[in-house]
Amino acid sequence: MRKFLKTTYIAVITILLGTFLFPLQAQDQAGKPGNVIAQRTEVMKLMAGKMETIHDMLDGALHFKNEAFSHAVKELKEKSGAHLTALFPKGSTGEKSRAKTGIWGDWVSFKGYADALEKAAKGLEKTSAVAIKNGSIVKVQKQMSRGSYSGVNEAEKAKAMADMKIMQQSFIAIAKTCKGCHEKFKIPKKKAE
Ligand code: HEC
Repeated sequence: MRKFLKTTYIAVITILLGTFLFPLQAQDQAGKPGNVIAQRTEVMKLMAGKMETIHDMLDGALHFKNEAFSHAVKELKEKSGAHLTALFPKGSTGEKSRAKTGIWGDWVSFKGYADALEKAAKGLEKTSAVAIKNGSIVKVQKQMSRGSYSGVNEAEKAKAMADMKIMQQSFIAIAKTCKGCHEKFKIPKKKAE
């Protein structure tokens, strides 16, 4: 009997912890503007990192790697749209934030940029899927890294260049949404910083 009581007691405690304590904790964390500011700063930094990878792979500073490229694009897509706006609950700004209060006064426009980013990321997802399927970029890179320029097939090279160009255009479309939103809704850094 005692053992039964003890087991029941533990079960009840576990249920209480599960249903009451954890949601309370979650609520408490979401309610603190500091946490959400730190969270979105991380997301923004991550996106900036992915943009750098994509940029470098599209201008030849880095080798074009199918998986790394697709992964970077996927991250951008998944962090944009509704996922991005969720990181800006009403009034979540302050000393540690560069978010302008205008975000919540012009939410439609702010949301518009977040959605435009998602759309632009999907655009690059499409153009890069075609380029990856063509495979010309990786082929040409391999040929060139062997140092045999003469061995590079001209037609293949032209295809690779065309694929690069289309992806560069998709990249610019993404960068424009970052810049557009920042210009309107992010407090610029002071010159001394
Ligand atoms: C919908 C608007 C919006 C879009 C789109 C957007 N950002 Fe931001 N970004 C902001 C705002 C607002 C801040 C300031 C957040 C804060 O300090 O609380 C910010 C901050 C940043 C920061 C500074 C983080 C730090 O260290 O404080 C970086 C870097 C950044 N964004 C990169 C990007 C990149 C790269 C993209 C595009 C891929 C992008 N952002 C798209 C609104 C946006």
